[in-house]
Amino acid sequence: MCGIIGAIANTNVVPVLLEGLLRLEYRGYDSAGLVVTNKGLERVRTTGRVTELSKLVVQQKTQGFAGIAHTRWATHGVPSERNAHPHFSGQDSKIAVVHNGIIENHEAIRSNLKDKGFEFLSDTDTEVIAHLIAFNLQQETDLFKAVCLSLAELQGAYAIAVMEEDHPERIIVARNGAPLLIGVGKDGNYVASDTSALLQATRSIIYLEEGDVAELSNDGYRIVNCLHNRLGDPVQRAVHESTLSNEAIELGPYAHYMQKEIFEQPSAVANTLEMVLNAQSISPNLFGSEAEKIFSKTSKILILACGTSYHAGLVARYWLETVAGMSCNVEIASEYRYRDPIADPNTLVIGISQSGETADTLAALNYAKKLGHQYSLAICNVPESALIRQTDLRFLTRAGPEIGVASTKAFTTQLASLLLLTVTLAKMHKKLSADDEKKVIAALRHLPVALQHALQVEPQVKIWAKSFAQKRHALFLGRGVHYPIAMEGALKLKEISYIHAEAYAAGELKHGPLALVDSEMPIVAIAPNDQLLGKLKSNLQEVHARGGELYVFADADSQIAESEGLHVIRLAEHAGLLSPILHTIPLQLLAYHVSLVKGTDVDKPRNLAKAVTVE
Ligand code: M6R
Repeated sequence: MCGIIGAIANTNVVPVLLEGLLRLEYRGYDSAGLVVTNKGLERVRTTGRVTELSKLVVQQKTQGFAGIAHTRWATHGVPSERNAHPHFSGQDSKIAVVHNGIIENHEAIRSNLKDKGFEFLSDTDTEVIAHLIAFNLQQETDLFKAVCLSLAELQGAYAIAVMEEDHPERIIVARNGAPLLIGVGKDGNYVASDTSALLQATRSIIYLEEGDVAELSNDGYRIVNCLHNRLGDPVQRAVHESTLSNEAIELGPYAHYMQKEIFEQPSAVANTLEMVLNAQSISPNLFGSEAEKIFSKTSKILILACGTSYHAGLVARYWLETVAGMSCNVEIASEYRYRDPIADPNTLVIGISQSGETADTLAALNYAKKLGHQYSLAICNVPESALIRQTDLRFLTRAGPEIGVASTKAFTTQLASLLLLTVTLAKMHKKLSADDEKKVIAALRHLPVALQHALQVEPQVKIWAKSFAQKRHALFLGRGVHYPIAMEGALKLKEISYIHAEAYAAGELKHGPLALVDSEMPIVAIAPNDQLLGKLKSNLQEVHARGGELYVFADADSQIAESEGLHVIRLAEHAGLLSPILHTIPLQLLAYHVSLVKGTDVDKPRNLAKAVTVE
């Protein structure tokens, strides 16, 4: 959470810092700030968003050739100007620090530094970094060395950028457990939490590794690694040319990123499945060169994930059991990491994450390894992420950058990937005939078109959204593989429209939640024409009989007729294995349009951030 950008160049860097912050705002938007060197360190901070910061910068005519900036998702200390970054320390020569992550031992360091006379002006863990560097600068006059010495005392995850008033000709940056990239430019050098913030200045990117500390000047950079030496061993890191297109990170004709990302799903899924769509058969190599060996030893699956990615795992469980005959356990990563589960070396552990940065998912995966699980696979949307780097196997969902906080195209591409995995395992374990494999490939080939078709229900969903926007609560019902889709629909609605929404397996209704049903409670049901449709229809009758208002997303062949208090939107005919992927689309559209009617912030819902890099 939190976004960092820094720039040092031959020209005024303030426009680059502001543009970078706008790109990074999805990472946190509680407050924003920047500091530039201009006859001293000039700092501007606000509890508002980046647009507010821009106004202040214009009013104050802030300019400078070097600067660091930050957009915050509050962890330690409420969102306020005094808690906004950059944080300062030092009297004769000020130190400025921006930080993404959490310093776990901040209390001990704080009390130590207070004893030494340092005065704390914020409630943040970040401020201890600034004072620690200032303290080390009293013994070691070189900022680079003082930063390295300070880092040796920090526990936790961080990406930081540091400037010193007396030496405005350099920025020191470091990473440990949070992403940080250097952008190598012609007229300057840059640093940021992700590539999208750097594209305005350069496409030449260096991905810093754990323990790296770098010094940037306007005409060069150097990098050391401090994992085995407090003062750092010099290292070379490759410069990559980013192929990320500006189109991928810009809104284009859309009103919101969420809207763009919903409508990008046909192409996102097509990109994810590209290697399969033209193939005659599916190869395990799609998951990595070791996949054949590892999959042949795999007898069970354990999926670890959070939020929407967890829902993708829940869908996969049904597929893995039914198609591959493989037992599958799906765990919320933040719970798994604090239980005492029994490890099994033949279980393949799968981490699913859009960002690949989610702290709980990363920690759960590490914990699974410590417990004795041997093999792991990442399903992830960010190629350079920590998750991708810590697993034996990997599959990239090629959805392109997902910027809206509510996950949409990441989910459907995760599902497409998990279906591919299911089929691969089924094939390797002789649960799938060559004919059936061909049928699945044909179905996957059709998926982008089917998604396009599903998007066409939007005008009908818009009409429903108007009545939903008046409600305070909603129930979502599904059965079988569509139950996790109901969970995902409820999560989308509560996340961006702030309407309280709960999902239930429809068979559970009469065990309690039916008591909630009255004319004020809209009930969304997912009613595909599958083997559970008959059961679901009985559940819907139970609701109808009690005056509940039903909003049913059915298949064209589900045979559910509209009546008083029972509204139906029909998708195409039942799509078999693909059905949960297609039934996701109208639920995303519903949440989006309810949010529009309510006027909430679609892309940046309150209290949330895109990548949850803290526990
Ligand atoms: O990046 P990840 O997929 O690991 O993120 C997991 C959750 O934080 C994420 O899916 C969250 O639930 C979304 N905001 C839901 O729309």
